[in-house]
Amino acid sequence: MRIAYVVGTRPNFVKTAPVIGAMRARLPEGRHAVVHTGQHYDRLMSEVFLEELGVPAPDYMLEVGSGSHAEQTARVIERLEPVLAQENPDLVIVPGDVNSTLAAALTAAKMQIPVAHVEAGLRSFDRTMPEELNRIVTDQLAEQLFIHSPEASDNLHAEGVPAERIHLVGNTMIDTLVALEGRFRAAQAAQKLGVAPGDYLLVTLHRPALVDGPLLAETIARLATLAREMPVVFPVHPRTRAMLAAIDSEHPGLLLTEPLGYLDFLSLLADAGAVLTDSGGIQEETTYLGIPCLTLRANTERPITITAGTNTLLGLDPAAIAQIPQALSQRPAKRPVPPPLWDGHAAERIAEVVAR
Ligand code: UD1
Repeated sequence: MRIAYVVGTRPNFVKTAPVIGAMRARLPEGRHAVVHTGQHYDRLMSEVFLEELGVPAPDYMLEVGSGSHAEQTARVIERLEPVLAQENPDLVIVPGDVNSTLAAALTAAKMQIPVAHVEAGLRSFDRTMPEELNRIVTDQLAEQLFIHSPEASDNLHAEGVPAERIHLVGNTMIDTLVALEGRFRAAQAAQKLGVAPGDYLLVTLHRPALVDGPLLAETIARLATLAREMPVVFPVHPRTRAMLAAIDSEHPGLLLTEPLGYLDFLSLLADAGAVLTDSGGIQEETTYLGIPCLTLRANTERPITITAGTNTLLGLDPAAIAQIPQALSQRPAKRPVPPPLWDGHAAERIAEVVAR
C-alpha cells in the first residue's frame, strides 16, 4: 500500500506525526511519502516542530510560501499534482483545515486518489473564516473521515456524508501531547522565561478576524493593563508580529517571545494559570490538561471543549480581557475527564481502519 501525507502548517505537523508513526508500524512494507507544502516555512514554524515530533525529513518540499488564499492554494495544487502522479498513492491523508489541506484534497480527488481527512466534521458555522470553507470542501471530497468528537458526526450527516465514511477515532493532537508529556513537563519553559508556574496568562493570537484589523491594538492595550495584575506571556505568530509592527503598538509589561517549539510551548501551557487564545488546537490541549482556556472568538468549531472541557468563549471582544482575573478567581479547580478517545491512541485507530 502506498500512502502520501500532505502537511503544510505548524498544527498539521502535530496532528499528523502520530498518524505517520502508527501507519508505518501497521503497514511496514508500505510506501509512506511525506509532502510538506511549505505553507509554513520559518524554522520556528516548521523544522523545529518536525524535529521535536520525530517526523522524518519530508520526501517532497513544495515551498509554496505565503500569499493570498488563491495564490497559496493554487501553488499547492500546481506543485502537488506531479508529485502525486509520480508517487501514485492508494491514499492521500490530509489533516486539519488550512489552505494546504483543501488544496491537497482537491488535487487528489481530481486524480481519483482516495482522500482521508484527519480532524473531519468540525464546524464553526461561520463562513467568513477561511478554515470553515476549507473544512466543508475537504469533507465533501474525502472518502474516509476521521473525527474526534460526536458532534462532528452530526455535522457530517447534515451535509449528506454517508455514515460508513465516518470513523470516530479520537484526537491525534492529543496523541502527540501524550507521547511527549514527559519531555515537555521537563522543559521548564516558565522558569526559563522567569515566570512562576501557575501564575501567568499565556496568550496566542493569530486569526485574521482579530489580528488583521482594529481589534489588535485594543487587545494589546487591554493585555498591557492586565499585565499589571498578572504576568502575561505572549509567543507571537509571524502574522501577528507583522501586524504589531504595522500598528507600531506599545506593549509595556507584556512578555513577548518568538514562536516557540512544541516542547517549550506545551511546557508553558501546562504550567499556565490560564490561556487566552484564538487557536483551535489550544482549546483542545487545555481541555486535556485541565487548564482554563479563554477563547477570544465569537464561535468555536470545537464545542466539546466547552461542554466537556475547560474552554470559555469570550466573544470577539477585547473588552472581555478585563474580566479575566475575576473569572479565574471564581473558577472551580477542576481537572475534567478528557472527551472519550482523547487517550493517546487515535492514530492507531486510524491505521487500523486504513489497513482494513
Ligand atoms: C494558517 C492557517 C490557520 C492556522 C494557522 C496556524 C489558513 C487559511 N490559515 O494561518 O488556519 O490556524 O496557519 O498557525 O491556512 N508567515 C511567516 N512565516 C511562516 C508562516 C507564515 O512569516 O513560516 C507569515 C507571513 O507573513 C504570512 C502570514 O504569516 O503571510 C500568514 O501565514 P499563512 O500561512 O497564510 O496563515 P496563518 O496565519 O499562519
